Amino acid sequence: MTDLSLPNLPGGLPDKRQVAASFSRAAASYDSVAELQRTVGSQLLARLPADCAPARWLDLGCGTGYFSRALGQRFTTGEGLALDIAEGMLNHARPLGGASHFIAGDAERLPLQDASCDLLFSSLAVQWCADFKSVLSEANRVLRPGGVLAFASLCVGTLYELRDSWRQVDGLVHVNRFREFSTYQQLCADSGLKVLSLQSRPHVLHYPDVRSLTHELKALGAHNLNPGRPGGLTGRARIKGLIDAYEQFRQAQGLPATYQVVYAVLEKP
Ligand SMILES: C[S@@+](CC[C@H](N)C(=O)[O-])C[C@H]1O[C@@H](n2cnc3c(N)ncnc32)[C@H](O)[C@@H]1O
Repeated sequence: MTDLSLPNLPGGLPDKRQVAASFSRAAASYDSVAELQRTVGSQLLARLPADCAPARWLDLGCGTGYFSRALGQRFTTGEGLALDIAEGMLNHARPLGGASHFIAGDAERLPLQDASCDLLFSSLAVQWCADFKSVLSEANRVLRPGGVLAFASLCVGTLYELRDSWRQVDGLVHVNRFREFSTYQQLCADSGLKVLSLQSRPHVLHYPDVRSLTHELKALGAHNLNPGRPGGLTGRARIKGLIDAYEQFRQAQGLPATYQVVYAVLEKP
């Protein structure tokens, strides 16, 4: 079973090299288990302004490039860029096309010129960025006036059933940390970009058992990578405790896993 362990220590998000390595390892299995990613990215696409017609767009944290291809189909006349920190994801995405250029890079330090893009689209990537303020200031820098940043991310409340179940087992927090929705609101308000919309919406998936959920998180490369997570094997008694605790959440459709999704559309004045 995937160890989603993490002591509840103050501290940042996972080390970037670990994030890149974890997503690179997950590239081959990612698409088969990416139901949430597909739904969220599609909803983000639907939130783009109706008159959005970028001459140059960027898929920020493109992963396997599913939405780079969707953007390429939607904006047939624009030039598309797809960027990710994980080389393994880019190697998977590149042969499938969609964008003209696949670029290894970090959302917190974009390897792009000032005022060079009209649309930054980013679905379920920036929750991995510890310094979201830098992501916003980079977006502000590379967007042309009138350009749009549309992102979907995760906030506190995500995987709360798993977090609470682990807490009942050993009093520790075992799930990746997420920013508060109010932090997204504050950082967006202070970004210099105009907030056109900013909402959080719960999205609940169901699993037959705890093992299916933790396997899926691993296949997505999204299992816990926070600093200070306990290493080594997870004991049988702890796993049984986790399963028993999670069963208390069971619904008719199965075991619920809630994702609290932030959707935002911002415009450069
Ligand atoms: C959950 S996947 C989403 C991929 C894609 N946007 C989708 O919706 O299918 C998150 C992606 O963000 C990338 N990522 C994480 N931190 C990043 C960073 N600082 N800069 C760029 N990409 C990053 C990961 O490598 C991974 O491919």
